[in-house]
Amino acid sequence: MARRTTQRALLLLTAVVASLVGGSSAGVYHIIGAGKGWRMPPNKTYYEEWASTRNISIGDKLMFLYRSGVYNIVEVPSRELFDACSMRNITNRYQRGPTIIELTEPGTRYYFCGVGEHCEVGQKVAIKVCAVASPPPDEPSAAAVLMLRPAGIAACCLVAAALLLMAM
Ligand SMILES: *[C@@H]1O[C@H](CO)[C@@H](O)[C@H](O)[C@H]1NC(C)=O
Ligand SMILES: *[C@@H]1O[C@H](CO)[C@@H](O)[C@H](O)[C@H]1NC(C)=O
Ligand SMILES: *[C@@H]1O[C@H](CO)[C@@H](O)[C@H](O)[C@H]1NC(C)=O
Repeated sequence: MARRTTQRALLLLTAVVASLVGGSSAGVYHIIGAGKGWRMPPNKTYYEEWASTRNISIGDKLMFLYRSGVYNIVEVPSRELFDACSMRNITNRYQRGPTIIELTEPGTRYYFCGVGEHCEVGQKVAIKVCAVASPPPDEPSAAAVLMLRPAGIAACCLVAAALLLMAM
């Protein structure tokens, strides 16, 4: 019984780690800007470079980690408004961090920080959402597990070892 519970916990854990590390299985949480979170970036292309390393699909979630009152998120409907950092036509606004946004349709979503000149210095990100069917969320797929990269496997082993110790 305990063993089965542990195995199930391990499977779920593996799926979570695969999601965080793999970057292209469905139902993935994408932490915007990775370790930097959502803030004034070190350079203008920081978030663009981050986004270019991710495969983001329908069913995935964007996680914006930021301090409320210091940063916010506005969504605009077009590339023109995004490029111009224009808040003339905002479709969504979030101001209490952390913010999790679930992506439910394909296409490109445009987000930037509406505080001061933050957008002008590069606190902006365009997210291309691909149309890919998601597997059921509670059944970690073999593909998700195979997606693990070496760093992910190491992290997973560490946590798995901790879990096993707790189960003993
Ligand atoms: C922007 O900053 C990131 C993180 O410091 C760095 O990896 C990247 O090379 C920089 N890009 C440019 C164009 O300077
Ligand atoms: C994104 O998907 C493409 C095509 O499936 C693949 O070649 C690429 O390696 C993936 N990139 C990442 C970061 O997972
Ligand atoms: C403002 O956004 C709405 C909703 O996306 C869109 O229908 C409308 O055309 C936009 N107007 C301008 C001026 O961009």
